[in-house]
Amino acid sequence: MKNAQVKATQLRDYVAPAFLVDHVDLTFFLKSEATKVHSKLKIRQNSNDKQPLVLDGDELRLDSVAVDGRELSSDEYQLGEFSLIIPDFPAEGELEVVTYIDPVKNTKLEGLYLSGGNFCTQCEAEGFRRITYYPDRPDVMATYTVTVHADQTSYPILLSNGNLIDQGVSNDGSHWARWDDPFPKPSYLFALVAGDLACYEDGFKTRSGQDVTLKIFVEHGNEDKCAYAMDSLIRSMKWDEERFGLEYDLDIFNIVAVSDFNMGAMENKSLNIFNSKCILASPDTATDMEFERIEAIVAHEYFHNWTGNRVTCRDWFQLSLKEGLTVYRDQEFTADMRSAPVKRIQDVRTLRARQFPEDAGPLSHPIRPESYIEINNFYTSTVYEKGGEVIRMMAELLGRDGFRKGLDLYFNRHDNQAVTCDDFVAAMEDANGADLNHFRLWYSQAGTPEVEANWSYDEKEQSLTLTLDQITAPTPGQKLKQPLLIPFTVGLLGQNGEELPLKLQGENVENASTQRTLRFDREHQTFKFVDLNQHPVPSLNRNFSAPIKLSTKYSTEDLRFLMGHDKDAFSRWDAAQTYASRLMLKMVKSVQDGDVVEFDHQYADALALNIADKSLDPAFLAQILALPSIDYVTEQMEVADFAAVEKVRSVFKVGIAKALFEQFKELYLAGKETVAYSPDSASAGRRALCNAALGYLSVIENDPECLRLVVEQFETADNMTDRMAALSLLADIPGEEREKALVAFEKRYADNALVMDKWFAVQATSSIPNALDEVKKLLSHSAFSYKNPNKVRALIGAFSGANPARFHAEDGEGYRFLADSIIHLNGINPQVASKILAPLGSWRRMNVTHQKMMKAELQRILDTENLSNDVYEIASKSLS
Ligand code: TRP
Ligand code: ZN
Repeated sequence: MKNAQVKATQLRDYVAPAFLVDHVDLTFFLKSEATKVHSKLKIRQNSNDKQPLVLDGDELRLDSVAVDGRELSSDEYQLGEFSLIIPDFPAEGELEVVTYIDPVKNTKLEGLYLSGGNFCTQCEAEGFRRITYYPDRPDVMATYTVTVHADQTSYPILLSNGNLIDQGVSNDGSHWARWDDPFPKPSYLFALVAGDLACYEDGFKTRSGQDVTLKIFVEHGNEDKCAYAMDSLIRSMKWDEERFGLEYDLDIFNIVAVSDFNMGAMENKSLNIFNSKCILASPDTATDMEFERIEAIVAHEYFHNWTGNRVTCRDWFQLSLKEGLTVYRDQEFTADMRSAPVKRIQDVRTLRARQFPEDAGPLSHPIRPESYIEINNFYTSTVYEKGGEVIRMMAELLGRDGFRKGLDLYFNRHDNQAVTCDDFVAAMEDANGADLNHFRLWYSQAGTPEVEANWSYDEKEQSLTLTLDQITAPTPGQKLKQPLLIPFTVGLLGQNGEELPLKLQGENVENASTQRTLRFDREHQTFKFVDLNQHPVPSLNRNFSAPIKLSTKYSTEDLRFLMGHDKDAFSRWDAAQTYASRLMLKMVKSVQDGDVVEFDHQYADALALNIADKSLDPAFLAQILALPSIDYVTEQMEVADFAAVEKVRSVFKVGIAKALFEQFKELYLAGKETVAYSPDSASAGRRALCNAALGYLSVIENDPECLRLVVEQFETADNMTDRMAALSLLADIPGEEREKALVAFEKRYADNALVMDKWFAVQATSSIPNALDEVKKLLSHSAFSYKNPNKVRALIGAFSGANPARFHAEDGEGYRFLADSIIHLNGINPQVASKILAPLGSWRRMNVTHQKMMKAELQRILDTENLSNDVYEIASKSLS
């Protein structure tokens, strides 16, 4: 059992660094088991009084320390497990340290490690200290010169940040390259890559005429899977110039794809390192969704060059400063590249699926946390996605131009600085003469606000009174909540679906607009709309203007009406979600009461109207057809009953499929007529619709005709989207066809690790009753490895995080399996281990039997010897 020794870092304890580093000069002699790192630092005192120089270090073997050319004896410094302290360091001086590290043993994938035989680094957040002793905090910014020596045959490519300034060959057959990064940066943006890699090259001319060489480095044989990532990069560079006036600032931009990576990608200055999953794509190996994800992540990392690198974070509590803002920017980019409403729907789906549960559970924290044990645990959906929502709300409040002015001022003020979230908000205020003081609460208050909307129409007065109430439930460590400033966008629909002009009482406007964003900033607030000669249906929180849980007194007629008429695509989709989950919850009650479960035809009728509306974008229609997930429905229950929801959702889906059989068949056959594969947004939308239709057809039991369609698509598809769609449908249908398809897929893609991940995941998320047994068997498949994070996520993560009905199985085996996996992974890669723990923390929502089993597993994890801080923090918070 871990003890109280583990110390939390607190935001309120922040103090400026005692010493700054102006320049870093690193020389690497790369060897698999013993890499020598020679570091020379130009250091300068940053405090008024003399203080010891404290450097961070982790798993380093110290060789020598010298100050201003004189080697120190061992009594002139103190070496701790995680630090090197030099009590008597001059006010200004050069520190020279030689250390050795072991990249082979580095299974944590933080610092310098080997992936597929190539050297690479990952330094965010605190990985640089695993390379050399350094004040490893983002408010210490320095320029870097990096010289890399390595064997020429095994590592022909040598890369680091900035510009290549020199290179050569040494007598012993090794070669070297020297890189210089002129922009001061924090250590977390340092990167180094050495290996035998193929290069895919292109170029970009910035709008001020600078030529930039763009290179993507991949393992040999993958050159043919880089085109889409490169195209995405070029479009990102252009978009950022046009939308935000932001240009690239060096004449070289490199991306390296590696197969062992803890997350999606990393924005190291001019040397982005990516999980190969987020770069490599071809029609035969990647689905449309993966193409879209690659586009978004390439853009995200590129956008970090300004929001993150040129202006960085003062400390890790400010993480959302760069992540929330960059998420907002990549969302806007995708909205411009593809369908804006569909993108919004997808983002809200993700927010509700990941962030809302996080904010309602034991790990709830504000987008700017106040305390952490392990910072790696705070790369959360809250910091990223809710952080993005907070930026979006500011953009909504200030308007597009106002937001742009604020951003311009932010860069003018803070270029080359490490700043805080407050600095960002202040720039927004000052550029607009706005007061965002109340709005700032979004940064410090955790939890999802619950808003209740009520309204009444007064026929005599021809007015509609809208009443809004907000409440945020207490979260761990934050009992008392205050009302937030919520930008609440509304519209009013007339009887024929027309948009009515919105005039608030007391206003004197000529042409009132039909949509407006209300400033809802009190616990209880009333808005009275006048001059309404008919009883309207309100459309609320349009385009999801605020990240809130909205409850309304819509009648089912209202919901059907909105589902058929709302001009706001998001609200139209949301009405369908609300309606469907309401009906399913009603059915769940019948199941629990032992009554017959019946499907309500009216829902199918409402869907039919949407299907018949040929003006709708196919991608949007596919979203309307996608039912709320098991998780989403279960979250609305007092006590979660996954088994009942799974059953009900399936009855519901079959009900729709039977009612609209002809429509789905027609949609499917029409979709099949499309031409050669192209990953563009419109084609992807058509495929999404076609596969949604096939999804409904596939659940009609004992219809050989329908099953044949699925099998045929699997066998004849000329692209991964259609092949995978068919395979995941087959994976839910026990029988010979299922087994045959899985074998065929495995055989076809045995040599492609990324595609095999999909093969693992499709089995891990299958609804077949013995899915867990299958998962356990797959652990010994030759393509599986605990050391590869993608594999762990594809099999273990997918099972526990995306197969709730099997994970919460009555016998508790799902819980036991996850705990066993985490205990095993704790010794290999703590960051990955703690990332898959969250599902065990949801015990409060379960019945007593499940609660007991889940808590026992959490306790078993906590009792593990040598528990990492990563796992300890999440497990202990989950249990408390
Ligand atoms: N900053 C990265 C991003 O948002 C994510 C990141 C943080 C990361 N820590 C990491 C990626 C560790 C890989 C490994 O794009
Ligand atoms: Zn990021």
